[in-house]
Amino acid sequence: MRVILKLSIGMLKQGLEKEKILRLIDEKLELDHKYDDGSILGSMCTEPLEFGREIYLKYLSKNLGDPGLFQGTANLEKEIVSELGELFGEKNVIGTLTTGGSEANLIAMRIAKKLRPDIKKPEVVVPISAHISFDKAADLLDIKLRKARLLENYELDLNHYKKLINEKTCGVIGVAGTTSLGLIDPIENIGDLIEGKNIYFHVDAAFGGFVLPFLKYLKYDIEPWDFSVKTVSSITADPHKMGLGVIPTGGFLVRNSQILQKTGFEIPYLAGGNFKHFHIVGTRPGGTVISFWAIMKYLGLNGYINIVKRCMEKTHFLSKKIAELGGVRLAVQPKMNVVGITTENGESICKIDEELRKKNWMLGKFQDFNLIRVVVMPHVKKEHLTLFIEDLKKIIKKIGLA
Ligand SMILES: Cc1ncc(COP(=O)(O)O)c(C=O)c1O
Repeated sequence: MRVILKLSIGMLKQGLEKEKILRLIDEKLELDHKYDDGSILGSMCTEPLEFGREIYLKYLSKNLGDPGLFQGTANLEKEIVSELGELFGEKNVIGTLTTGGSEANLIAMRIAKKLRPDIKKPEVVVPISAHISFDKAADLLDIKLRKARLLENYELDLNHYKKLINEKTCGVIGVAGTTSLGLIDPIENIGDLIEGKNIYFHVDAAFGGFVLPFLKYLKYDIEPWDFSVKTVSSITADPHKMGLGVIPTGGFLVRNSQILQKTGFEIPYLAGGNFKHFHIVGTRPGGTVISFWAIMKYLGLNGYINIVKRCMEKTHFLSKKIAELGGVRLAVQPKMNVVGITTENGESICKIDEELRKKNWMLGKFQDFNLIRVVVMPHVKKEHLTLFIEDLKKIIKKIGLA
């Protein structure tokens, strides 16, 4: 019997000229929103620093999945981890850059489970405002998530959180910079709840990690959220959010270096030799690491402080304008560069979101909390916010909210 193989029909038999390909890409990407046109108001990512982009392009083939082959790159990663550890209150941490906050949170959840083999059906307590990556991790790792409620003011209901901790709890999560409102959970209080209980405590500062330390330098009143809280075991902090790193660059830091030996994956066959790592992925970019090392060196502390300062100035500008509008109000007074907007009298926020999208404004919508939110990233300019407010005012009038 003859078997007829049908060749792929999507792929061209003969390749195209580069010019033609570039034109095609331009045409096809016209559908994409651009950071600098101002329409992206609800993203926690932004344009990476230009210098970081240049460096990244130079080192695309570096593979930290085999660090023995790229020891120079691996050393730069160690330097980054140590500098970030110091920024977060503990220089002698270990850690790694990841593909993003989701991978970092997945790693943390896995560690929490691994460290408590005595618990048959492990549970992790999270605030209900925690990022969806914890649901994904719980699903993948067969961990039961216990979700703590929020109070009316969107802050964590610590009493409810406490009730969810029991003998099956292997880990607890606090968020420093929630996805919806940029709020900071009471990390010290959560720490008190687990003190002496052999429970792993992970803080998700995917967004806040590159905001909160700089707000402190700007004399904002920031409650302790990092390794300065002695019960905190690990932290997620993402360079590709407010760190201005290229996508994908996340970060995961652990206080206790023994944890890698206890829970890391051993990879026995690599060309560069044996090593242990926390990662879910195998092959992973070294270019993002080198690029972020360069970005940190280039910006320095003052560079980051200035970026955060400017974002906060625009945050205050937007907050003031929202507070002056009728029909909507600020969900909370912003703690960082995240502005949540809800309706004044409890009407659904969905219609406003729908109308804003028709006018090309892309915000985040959090239906459970009945709010939309603007993340005032470096690409968001004051003139964009002014135009946004004008449109929002018209929409409020059109749908009869004010
Ligand atoms: C608090 C928080 N944690 C984790 C994540 C997930 O990060 P990533 O999208 O890089 O996986 C996000 C994303 O917005 C976040 O806001």
